[in-house]
Amino acid sequence: MNAALPVDVLKQHLIDPEICIRCNTCEETCPVDAITHDSNNYVVDPDICNGCMACVPPCPTGSIDNWRLVVRADAYTLADQLGWDELPREQALPEMASVAPGAAADSATESAAAAVVPATPGASVPPWSAAHPYVNLYTHKTPVTATVVGNYRVTGADTDSDIHHIVLDFGDLPFPVLEGQSIGILPPGADAQGRPHHARQYSLASPRDGERAGYNNLSLTVKRVTEDHLGQPAQGVCSNYLCDLAKNDTVQVIGPFGHTFLMPNHPRANLVMICTGTGSAPMRAMTERCRRRIDSGENGRLMLFFGARTERELPYFGPLMKLPRDFIDINLALSREAGLPKRYVQDLIRERAADVRALLADRNTCIYVCGLKGMEVGVLDALRDVTMQSGQDWTILHEVLRREGRLHFETY
Ligand code: A2P
Repeated sequence: MNAALPVDVLKQHLIDPEICIRCNTCEETCPVDAITHDSNNYVVDPDICNGCMACVPPCPTGSIDNWRLVVRADAYTLADQLGWDELPREQALPEMASVAPGAAADSATESAAAAVVPATPGASVPPWSAAHPYVNLYTHKTPVTATVVGNYRVTGADTDSDIHHIVLDFGDLPFPVLEGQSIGILPPGADAQGRPHHARQYSLASPRDGERAGYNNLSLTVKRVTEDHLGQPAQGVCSNYLCDLAKNDTVQVIGPFGHTFLMPNHPRANLVMICTGTGSAPMRAMTERCRRRIDSGENGRLMLFFGARTERELPYFGPLMKLPRDFIDINLALSREAGLPKRYVQDLIRERAADVRALLADRNTCIYVCGLKGMEVGVLDALRDVTMQSGQDWTILHEVLRREGRLHFETY
């Protein structure tokens, strides 16, 4: 009766605070609400996390995919994790530590195999033909310095929507990107607790070969934040910093990030792009990629649903309207245009049901949704209605689109 009792070991799920860009994707994805955050870190509650892995594929940086074997009774608490600047080193386990059946050290992997409920409406894999993305080339510890070579407003000067097109040049330093990827900007200064500001994530608005083709530069679409979600005055730290930058200023950049919200790379693939406001950035990048190869005959159909309050608040309105109609099918949903009924992108998807349905039925079609979180449900409902009108089963089609990497969401 002297045998030592086995110690219950936990494979604890942790987030690397040095790589995490605080984009909130994991917290939104977690089906059991095990992930939470404060102004410093995103953390995983060891008492709730069941290791289902739903949060791992959507994470743009991979910072979510960290695990430590710990004695369950000594698991890192939320308070521990919130205080970290870096992950703790692996600790040796006591010799008598053993893995309890059922609650095994490998419970994460086991649960993952069992997890069948989609945690996000979009795919967690890229389209089959997407080019290979580079991610995390530059981190919080090793950011790259970019130079501002352009910064101008792309919304009407008389409107409240102050949206800027900002061009960053990387000089001789490699910064390979694909349309749909994002970068992190490290704003200078510190937060109220004296800690350096964490990075803010922005989608690229330019294609892989540069804002100016052949140059080592890229562009962002940044909306100046002047109020919080409740409408109270609040100055967004990074958006104001970026919108106020002058030519030749320098910026600290990390990334690139993202390995799923990528465009198909095979000839005659169709793109259905659904966006609001600055969610147009990746759509601009993909559209510009296609525009530059317009003479090659490689493009499939491009269909755009773009929501904004008014034409003057719709970023890039002028250049967008100059694109040839036989190149891109543009559908503008304006919600506050004087004299016009309020329209959302989902209304227009329903109006264009026959064309949307035909595209959905084509396995060469990929769908991208980017912009306000609120439109996610509305767009899904519209796609379901459009599908069901023809007697098709949306549940099945939705699953196919997810599995084949053909339906992607990026909402905030
Ligand atoms: P609204 O006029 O009702 O706010 P913003 O300018 O705030 O970035 O919003 C971009 C566009 O998205 C606006 O036209 C806005 O309309 C619209 N919008 C707001 N909520 C939703 C939603 N749930 N689904 C689709 N569009 C939305």
